[in-house]
Amino acid sequence: TTNRSSVTGTAPVLVASNRGPVSFSTADDGTLTLRRGGGGLVSGLSAIDDPNAVWVCAALDDSDRRAAAEAPHGRLDLTGHEVGGQAVRMLDIDPLTFARAYNGVANSTLWFVHHLLYATPTAPSFDAAFRTEWAAYRAYNEAFAEALAAEAAPNAAVLVQDYHLSLVPALLREARPDLRIGHFSHTPWAPPEYYRMLPDDVARAVLTGILGADRAGFLTQRWARAFAACCEDLLGATVDHDALTVTVDGRTTRLGVHALGADADFLRERAHRPDVDERLAALRAAVGDRRTIVRVDRTELSKNIVRGLQAYRHLLRTRPEWHDRVVHIAFAYPSRTDLAEYRAYTAAVQRLAEEIDAEFATPAWRPLILHVDDDFPRSLAAYRLADVALVNPIRDGMNLVAKEVPVVSDHGCALVLSREAGAHAELKDDALTVNPYDVIATAEALHAGLTMSPEERADRTKRLAAAATALPPQQWFLDQLNAL
Ligand code: G6P
Repeated sequence: TTNRSSVTGTAPVLVASNRGPVSFSTADDGTLTLRRGGGGLVSGLSAIDDPNAVWVCAALDDSDRRAAAEAPHGRLDLTGHEVGGQAVRMLDIDPLTFARAYNGVANSTLWFVHHLLYATPTAPSFDAAFRTEWAAYRAYNEAFAEALAAEAAPNAAVLVQDYHLSLVPALLREARPDLRIGHFSHTPWAPPEYYRMLPDDVARAVLTGILGADRAGFLTQRWARAFAACCEDLLGATVDHDALTVTVDGRTTRLGVHALGADADFLRERAHRPDVDERLAALRAAVGDRRTIVRVDRTELSKNIVRGLQAYRHLLRTRPEWHDRVVHIAFAYPSRTDLAEYRAYTAAVQRLAEEIDAEFATPAWRPLILHVDDDFPRSLAAYRLADVALVNPIRDGMNLVAKEVPVVSDHGCALVLSREAGAHAELKDDALTVNPYDVIATAEALHAGLTMSPEERADRTKRLAAAATALPPQQWFLDQLNAL
C-alpha cells in the first residue's frame, strides 16, 4: 500500500485500460526508454487536454514494472513526450496475477468467446486451473477499481475500457457511488447461446460487472444487441430493444453505440513523412508494375490470415492470368505470443506462405511478400500502394485497417471486407463483401477488386474514406463523455 494522499481524488476525468498509452523497454545500459502507443484511445483522450485527467493502466512487462515502481505514487513522468496532457498511473500488479488475468481469462477465455474462436469439442474446459485464473482476474480488476476510486474527484467521469476490466464498473460503483461510470467494449459481443458456455457465475459476473456502469458502449448495434440478449438470457434483465436500455434489480444501464472512425488528420500527415516515402519506394521496387493485394494485421486468430492466404492461392490456381502480374503483401506482426494457440497460428501462416512460394514463385516473380515484424511506417506505405486491401476477419469489433486504407490510399483501393467485421455496417455499400469462411468466394472478390476500373475504384475509395472518418477518435471520446 503506497502513500497516495497527495494525489487522492483530484481527477475529473479518468480512463482505465489494460494497455496504456505508453510502454517501456530497457536499453543495453539498463536505462528505461519510453514508447508512445498508437490507437484511437490515445488520440481520443488528447481531446480532453486536462492536466488533471488520469489514465490508469497495467504494467505489462518487467520494464513497465520498473518504471511504475520508480514513479512517485505510480504516476509516470511524461514531460517531453507527446502523450497528451493527462497523467498516467501504471499499476504494478504481481506478475503471476497479471499473467493469469491477462492470458488466462481475458485473452484465452473472454476474447475467444466474443470472437467465436473455440473448437468446441475440445475447448474450452473450465477446470481447477481456470478457477485460479478467474480469482486472479478478480484481483486484477479490484486493483484497477481501487486505483480509480483513489484518483477520482467527486462526481468524476470514469471511462473503463474493454474485456480485461469488465468487473471494474460494479466494483467502482460500490466504492464510489458518486461517480459517473462508462464502460466501452472494443470487441464484438457473443450471442447468448455461445456466451453461456462460460460457467454460470462467471458469465453473470461479467454482465453484472459491466452493468455497474451508467452507460455501456459498443462499436456497433449488433454487439450492443448481443450484450442485451445475454443480459436477458442469463440475468432475466428487462431490455428495451429500441431505447437500448437494460434493467436489472431496479437499476437501468443505457447502452450506446459509438462507431470509432479513422483519424484522418493524423493518418494523412503521418503517411507522407520521409520514412513512409522511403518504404514506399522499397515496396515499389519489389513489386514493379504488378498489382498489389495488401493485408495488415496482428497475427491474431480472429483475423483469418490463413484463409486469406488460401484464397490468394486459389486465385493463382484458378486464374493463371495473374501469374507474374500480382503480388500479395501480407504484414502479420506478432501478438500475444505467450499463448500456444497464437504461436501455432503464426507457424501455420508461415507454412502456408512457404507453400505458396514453392508452388508459384519464379526467378522473376515473388508472389507473396510476408513480413512478421511490426513497422507502422511500412504499413502506411503498403496502404498507399494497395490496389486491393484484404480485411477478412472471422469476427472483429470494428477493424480499423478497413477504415485507414481508404483514407491513405494514393490512387484508390478496392476493399474486400468480411461481413463479420464491425466496420462492415458502415462500409458495406462500397466494399466487396465476403463470408470469411468461404475461401473461393474470397478469391473471386480479390479478382473483382483487381479488375475493377480505376475510376470505380477511386469513386468507391472516396466514399469509403468519408464513411470511415465520420466519427474521428476525438469526437468518439467526447461523445461518450458527454453522454455520461
Ligand atoms: C484489441 C483489444 C484491445 C487490445 C488490442 C491489442 O484491439 O480490443 O484491448 O489492446 O486488441 O491486444 P493486446 O493483447 O496486445 O493488448
